Amino acid sequence: MTVRDIAAAKERGEKWPMVTAYDAMTAKVFDEAGIPVMLVGDSAAMVVYGYDSTLPVSVDDLLPLTAAVVRGSSRALVVADLPFGSYQASPGDALATAARFMKEAGAHAVKLEGGRRVLPQIELLVSAGIPVMGHLGLTPQSVNAFGGYRVQGRGQSGDELMADAKALEHAGAFAVVLECVPADLAARVSAALSVPTIGIGAGPSCDAQVLVWQDLMGLTPHPAKFVKKYADLAGEMDHAVRAFAHDVVSGVFPAPEHSYS
Ligand code: KIV
Ligand code: NA
Repeated sequence: MTVRDIAAAKERGEKWPMVTAYDAMTAKVFDEAGIPVMLVGDSAAMVVYGYDSTLPVSVDDLLPLTAAVVRGSSRALVVADLPFGSYQASPGDALATAARFMKEAGAHAVKLEGGRRVLPQIELLVSAGIPVMGHLGLTPQSVNAFGGYRVQGRGQSGDELMADAKALEHAGAFAVVLECVPADLAARVSAALSVPTIGIGAGPSCDAQVLVWQDLMGLTPHPAKFVKKYADLAGEMDHAVRAFAHDVVSGVFPAPEHSYS
């Protein structure tokens, strides 16, 4: 899977799925299921490291997860999220961080949050040959400025988001994530851009859809409204680990077939 395949999918009007991944075994399952693009999101801050926002996670925290996903997959395009504080100050910072994800972890592309305020960063990365995915709407690294996790782009600010999306495309972004924006705005942005939009809480008109894998698999205790639960892994795992505990306590496990003579 390459950024050229992604561009071709939009031309053909084909929708595609993206999921997050943070480890090799999970990445292998998604890769073999044909998921074309995997994101090593800074959502790892919450779902891997247990923080209550994405802000605390560092480049050094995310690099080994990205390397693991690259090792676990053979076909998917692996996108690395640039964490809070690692790219905002200057295009030079953005290039140094992105280069680490590509050289040390083998990422194929990077994602960063923001619109016109990060255009110099995107332009430098693109000129250096690094495919860049944009991210607009509810950009979680700005949660403190937003005053919480709330829908973005309602009313007048929809025009701002549209202008940001066009600016990202013009700067050379190969795709744009739209998070928690009204479905009609996402539809208009998707129609206006020649690069694909990837929705999360952005309605059905986006060119692609992304979910955090723990959300779609039912591991997250209180998922957002935009999540559809495709499995109940929390329930399955609870059931399985209780059965294991019971078998150990009662002496049922290990049985002879699990033992060496
Ligand atoms: O970090 C993440 O998982 C993301 C996606 C939800 C788009 O940025
Ligand atoms: Na993210």
